[in-house]
Amino acid sequence: MITISDNIYHITDGKYSYAFFVKDGKLVHSYYGKALPVDKARMKSSALNALSVHSFGYDWMPFEVGERGRGDFRIPSAAVSGNGFTSTDFLFESAEVLDDKPSLNMPSLRGKAQTLAVTLKDAVAGLELKLYYTVYDGALARHTEIKNIGKLPVTLCTLDSACTELDIGDYDYISLDGRWGAECGVSRQSVAYGVHTLSSSRGVTSHQHNPFLAVLDKDATEHSGDVYGFNLIYSGNFAARMERDEKSRVRVNFGAQIAEGGISLEVGESFVSPELVSVYTDEGVGGMSRIFHKLYRTRLIDPRFADKPRPIVVNSWESVYFDFDEQKLKRFIDGANGLGIDTVVLDDGWFGKRDSDNCSLGDWIIDRRKLPNGLKAVIDHCKKNGMKFGIWFEPEAISPNSDLYRAHPGWAISTVGRKGIEMRNQYVLDFSNPQVVDYVFEAMRKILAEHEILYVKWDMNRGLSDVPNGKLYFGYVRGVYELYDRLSHEFPNVLIEGCSSGGGRFDPAILYYSPMIWASDDTDAHERTKIQYGLSLCYPLQTLSNHVSVCPNHQSARTTPFDTRGAVASLGCLGYELNVAEISEDEREKIKKQIETYKADRNLILTGELYRLRNPFASDIFCEQVAAEDGSEAYVVAVNTLNKVNLPIGKIKLKGLDENALYSVKELNAQLSGAELMYDGLQPEFRNDFSANIWHIKKLTNKR
Ligand code: GLA
Repeated sequence: MITISDNIYHITDGKYSYAFFVKDGKLVHSYYGKALPVDKARMKSSALNALSVHSFGYDWMPFEVGERGRGDFRIPSAAVSGNGFTSTDFLFESAEVLDDKPSLNMPSLRGKAQTLAVTLKDAVAGLELKLYYTVYDGALARHTEIKNIGKLPVTLCTLDSACTELDIGDYDYISLDGRWGAECGVSRQSVAYGVHTLSSSRGVTSHQHNPFLAVLDKDATEHSGDVYGFNLIYSGNFAARMERDEKSRVRVNFGAQIAEGGISLEVGESFVSPELVSVYTDEGVGGMSRIFHKLYRTRLIDPRFADKPRPIVVNSWESVYFDFDEQKLKRFIDGANGLGIDTVVLDDGWFGKRDSDNCSLGDWIIDRRKLPNGLKAVIDHCKKNGMKFGIWFEPEAISPNSDLYRAHPGWAISTVGRKGIEMRNQYVLDFSNPQVVDYVFEAMRKILAEHEILYVKWDMNRGLSDVPNGKLYFGYVRGVYELYDRLSHEFPNVLIEGCSSGGGRFDPAILYYSPMIWASDDTDAHERTKIQYGLSLCYPLQTLSNHVSVCPNHQSARTTPFDTRGAVASLGCLGYELNVAEISEDEREKIKKQIETYKADRNLILTGELYRLRNPFASDIFCEQVAAEDGSEAYVVAVNTLNKVNLPIGKIKLKGLDENALYSVKELNAQLSGAELMYDGLQPEFRNDFSANIWHIKKLTNKR
C-alpha cells in the first residue's frame, strides 16, 4: 500500500515501512524498517522536518537522491555534468500513485504492483529525474529514469537505481565474493567510516562479486536481528557503494555502473536504471533469504518453470570434454538409460571444428566429422532410450579462428587500431549491434527448429575488453536480453540453463529467463557446500544447478563419498556430470537410488523454506534444512569436512516445524515431537571425512 498524507510518502506491505517527505523541494528520507502506522512514520520524521535543508542540512540529512556539488559531500546516486555545470539540484515537481509499474524494457519483478512515481526537475541543468518505488510482498523495488529536457547534450556520470539511507547505527555488511571455481564466498565485515564498493567492470556480473549486498545490525545473526538485503536485477557492470558518514548514518547507492568518463545523454534522450530489489527483515540473514526466495519464485522466475520439476540431466562436459563422436555419445546415452535421468545434454564441441577451446565459436554448424548423421542420430538414440536432448551454446562468443570471424571481424568488440585481448582464445561479440544479435538468433533458431531440443545450456566464458565506449556496455546487456526474449518467445518450451564459466553471471536478470544457473565449474562436494551456501543467501534452491561428478574430482582432485556428492547436489536442481557409460554397477545403483529419493523430495526442495543451520565458512559442518511452509515435512542435509577423533559435536536444532506435532525421522527410525526436533535437536554422526547425514522428517499427527 502506498499513501501520501500530510507530506509523508509511506510505502508499506504491512511488514516493512519506507517513508520520506518533501522539505525545501528535496526528498528527505525518514524511515525504513519494520512496518509503522502512517502517523508514526510522520512522527519519526518530525525532528528532521523542523530543520531547513539549506544551511548545513545538505551535509548530513538523509536523502532519496544523493547529489553532487551542492553541499552533500557523500557519494552521489545521480551525477551529471554539462556545459558549465557539474552539480545538480533536483527539486520536487509531482508524485502519483500508479496501479502498476511502467515497463523498464529489461528484466524486473513480474506482475501488477502498486508504484509511487516521483518527478523531480533541475531547470538549470535541463534534467528530469523520476524515482519509482514499487511495493511487493516483503520487498521494495526501485528504479530511476533521467531525461535530458534541456537544449544541449549532457554527460551522465552516475545514475543508481536507488539511494537508501540507513539510520544512525553500527552495521556490518555481507557480500558474496569469489573467483572462478569458488563463487559466492560469504564475507561479513564492518561498515567502517568511509566508502566501500563492490562492483564489476567486466561487462558481466562476475565471479568476483555477486550483485548482492546485505547491511545488518552488528548484533544480527542468521536467525535474528535487523537486516537490509539488496539485489540488482542486471547482468552487466554494477556498483554497490556504501558510505558511513560522520554521524554513522549509512548511505547505500546501488545500480548499473557507468564507465569512467560517463556517457552522453542527448537532448530528449532518457536513461532508465535497472531495478534494485530491497528487503527488510528483523528475522536475521535467514529471514532475509526466505523473503528473497519467495519473491523470486513468485515474481521473477518465468512462471512456465517456477516451482516446476526441472529435468534431471547428465551433461557430457566432465564425461568426455571435446573427445566424442556419434558412437561414443550413443554409448553414453545407453549408459544413462535406466538411471532415472530425463535429459542428456551435449556440452561444448559439437559444432565447427572444435576439438579444443581454440576455435569455432560462432560457427554453429554441426561438426560432421564427429556427427556424420547430424544431431538427429543422437537425439533419436535419446528418444529410443526414453530421454530428451539438450545442447550447449556460447552465443556471445567468437573465436578468432572461426568462419564467422573471418567473414565479420568487425563483429567482435574491439578498439580501432588495437588487436583485441584474447581470453580462453576468444573474443566477445558486439551484442549492441542488432545485426549480430540477428545472426546469432538465426543460427540458434536453425538448430533448435530443426531438432527436438528442449534444453539449452547458454554459456558465457569471458569478460568484455577493448570496449570502445561506455555506452556499449549497456547496449551489450540489452542485446543479451533481446536474444533471450526472442528465443523464449520462439521456443517457449525450451528451458535455458544459464552458465558463465560456472556462476560468473548468477544474477536475477538471468534468472528472469533461465530458471536455473550452473552454480560453479567446481563440482567438488566439499567446495560446493560453500558455494551453494553463499548463493542461497539470495537465490532460491530451485535456481541452483548442481551435478554429481566423478572422483578424484576434476577441479580439486579430492575424493568425497558418492552419497555426499548426491546429498549436496540434491539441494537444488540435481544432475550428473560423469561418464555413465563407464561407471561401476555400484555407482549405477547409487544414482538410481539418489534420483528416486530426489524425485520424491523434489517439490519440497524446490518450494520449501530454507533454514541454514550450520555455516561452512564458520565451522567444519554445513547444514541446510528445507521445511514445507506449513511445517508438515522437512529435508535436512548435514556434511562435515575432515573427520576429527573424539570431537564432541553438538545437536542440530531444526526450524520451521510445529512444536505440538509428532514427526517421524526416517533415517533414525524415530518419532519425535516438533518441540524435541527444534529445541533439543538431532545428533549428527560423522564417521568419515566429508560424510553426510540426511534426515527426512514427516508430520504424523498434529498432537505429540
Ligand atoms: C564453461 C562451462 C562448463 C563447460 C565449458 C565448455 O567452462 O562453465 O560447464 O560448459 O565451458 O567449454
